[in-house]
Amino acid sequence: MRRSLENVPAYLAGKPAAALPGLTSFKVSSNENPYSPLPEVVAALSFEQINRYPDISNTRLRDLLAAKYHLVTDNFATGTGSVGVLQQIVQATCDFEDEIVHAWRSFEAYPIVAAVNGAISVPVPLRADESHDLDAMCAAITARTQLILICQPNNPTGVAAKRDELVHFLDRVPAHVTVVIDEAYVEFITDQRIADSLDLFHNYKNVAILRTFSKAYGLAGLRVGYAIAHLDLAETIRKCTLPFGVSNIAEDAAIAALKYEDKLMVRVRHILEERSRVSEALTAQGWKLSDSQANFVWLRMPGKTGVFTQSAAEVGLSVRPYGDEGVRITIGEDEANSRLIEMCATFIKEVGQV
Ligand SMILES: Cc1ncc(COP(=O)(O)O)c(C=O)c1O
Repeated sequence: MRRSLENVPAYLAGKPAAALPGLTSFKVSSNENPYSPLPEVVAALSFEQINRYPDISNTRLRDLLAAKYHLVTDNFATGTGSVGVLQQIVQATCDFEDEIVHAWRSFEAYPIVAAVNGAISVPVPLRADESHDLDAMCAAITARTQLILICQPNNPTGVAAKRDELVHFLDRVPAHVTVVIDEAYVEFITDQRIADSLDLFHNYKNVAILRTFSKAYGLAGLRVGYAIAHLDLAETIRKCTLPFGVSNIAEDAAIAALKYEDKLMVRVRHILEERSRVSEALTAQGWKLSDSQANFVWLRMPGKTGVFTQSAAEVGLSVRPYGDEGVRITIGEDEANSRLIEMCATFIKEVGQV
């Protein structure tokens, strides 16, 4: 076995909620979309051809994405979820022991994907307001840096970098270093001060964007993500594709999700209303929330993470603890959100301010 993998942690997936007698339990630990698929999406899945391999280059889907973003098909590379595409990007950009700069705490797959591919992860601590410290990330660039990951908004803290600071950052990154803006939650961004990443993509030849059908489009179980990249990088990312990784069913579903996007965005808007309801209620109770631009909220609570996670489980909510740093809770079904609000009120009364 490769010795460099000995200390690589396993990916810790959000746990399903334990069943409790007389109470519906909710899994709010994986930032999934709480809605089951649209009937139109289910109807579009064609099982008749599953004896055949899928289209290795997902051309139908990439054509549609090209039309959606006014780009060309070859600006797109697909993969098994955006984490699959991220892996391809690392393979496309990093040789052995090249460095990948990313914020920390951030999406837990970053250091894993780096190590598995022989690259070195360079984590840069978040600022006190839970945002990326872009100055420190700039300072962390060395001659070995090939890739920078900006988690926008950041998982698990929810904060997104503002347009001006991101532009100032991109102006300072050497042109040969690829900057990937990981926008798994982009559809949940409401703050107008956050840049349109497509503008950044057009203005910087070293910027690529990572997006997914897993969150707003509700297809986490089918594994479809994509990169928007300049032509030479996009081609190299496609070279690193796991052959036939995106199944024909998954491609059908992604195509249908784009077709019925308006209906899906109605659901997204409801999740956003629920995010406001939860954030306002928790703030009124005295919790200090970061400015979440995603479909989850983040409660930093060193010393109380374990007891909070346990209290949530006792009322049928499976939340996502991060060591003893804090807890990330997905905005889920209305009932789950109401239960969270109640539980947080009780927690603050019984355990005290965090
Ligand atoms: C920031 C971020 N990027 C990427 C992903 C990967 O999602 P998927 O592989 O389902 O597209 C996630 C999943 O939680 C995420 O939080």
